[in-house]
Amino acid sequence: MPYYRRVGDVPRKRHQLVRSSSGRRLAEELMGKEGFGGESSLLYHVGRPTAIVDAAEVPLDNVELTPNRPLLPRHFRTQKLTGGATDVALDRELLLGNDDVWIWWVVVARATSLQRCTVGDECYFVQRGRGTCESVFGALRVEEGDYLVIPASTTYRLVPDGQTPLSCLVLEARGHIELPDRYLSARGQLLEVAPLCERDLRGPEEPLVVEGEDVEVFVRGRATVTRHVYATHPFDVVGWDGCVYPFAFHIRDFEPIVKRFHAPPPVHQTFSGPDFVICSFVPRPFDFDPEAVPVPYHHANVDSDEVLFYAGGSFMSRRNAGIEAGSISLHPAGFVHGPQPGSVDAALGQAGTDELAVMVDTRRPLLIGPAGWAVEDPTYAWTWAGRGPREQR
Ligand SMILES: [Fe+2]
Repeated sequence: MPYYRRVGDVPRKRHQLVRSSSGRRLAEELMGKEGFGGESSLLYHVGRPTAIVDAAEVPLDNVELTPNRPLLPRHFRTQKLTGGATDVALDRELLLGNDDVWIWWVVVARATSLQRCTVGDECYFVQRGRGTCESVFGALRVEEGDYLVIPASTTYRLVPDGQTPLSCLVLEARGHIELPDRYLSARGQLLEVAPLCERDLRGPEEPLVVEGEDVEVFVRGRATVTRHVYATHPFDVVGWDGCVYPFAFHIRDFEPIVKRFHAPPPVHQTFSGPDFVICSFVPRPFDFDPEAVPVPYHHANVDSDEVLFYAGGSFMSRRNAGIEAGSISLHPAGFVHGPQPGSVDAALGQAGTDELAVMVDTRRPLLIGPAGWAVEDPTYAWTWAGRGPREQR
């Protein structure tokens, strides 16, 4: 997150003695990337952010990843993952993953436990529902279509509104999720040519202070969870400032770039992670030359696996392939992919698309998790040919 934000009571100088309005000495916490060498925020706690009174490892099931063998394009139906998840710290469902990013599905039906992720930043995409991300930085409202980026080691919980669960795709990075360098000036301002700007990014606006004793926080690593118990509630921050904090960005605030002839996915890039990118496909006019072919050409991603989460609208290039809102396609390196038969004819002459999708391109092959295998559509690989290995001519 490139720009400075200040919330609540912050003293004039850093690292000076500071007391609360009741005279209690506050405890500073510097939350910084890359040791002390990157962006940071400085938080002012009423209690000690270090005071744990208990710890225990929590067993975790269903986090085994297995290779995409035989190598095939895949279709996963997250619509079938209706959850029953009651705790986002423990009940996520693992779809895909490699050393750089794990991709989960979660249905948050009630307020989650407090948690933090130690592996890296997390990026939620809210497919359905609305609610609040409560964290040590304050409260942040999110709704359908929002990206929510939560920095590593942020203590937070998700609270859905009312009875409607929050259904989210979750990307858990190994490291930090950033805005692409090419969108930023040398000093970090989003450039005029970027498809988003600072005004589109929302952060917490006031402190969230909660009293409590012996409070559980679930600390997540890769395939591990440790339960820490804190002497006092971690939400005791009366002020903070800096450039590290959770923020939200609504996908419809992404300004699409359209060319006369087809533009490849890098024009849709929204965020960068370590060895993966996140792109947003949003409603837009189609390529506008009379001779333009408005759907993608066949392509081989030599150096990446390509994941598309279809969030809404209709997907011209996946015609008659069974893809619906909530579907995920995986097109791995080694497989040439392109529009399904009939897609080009259907697209010719159309003025635009209402598709809404989130793409994740990874530099290393993705393995498939238990939830992915459980909701895979086994017919997808054969939709280009129109027949599969068990079907006769
Ligand atoms: Fe592709």
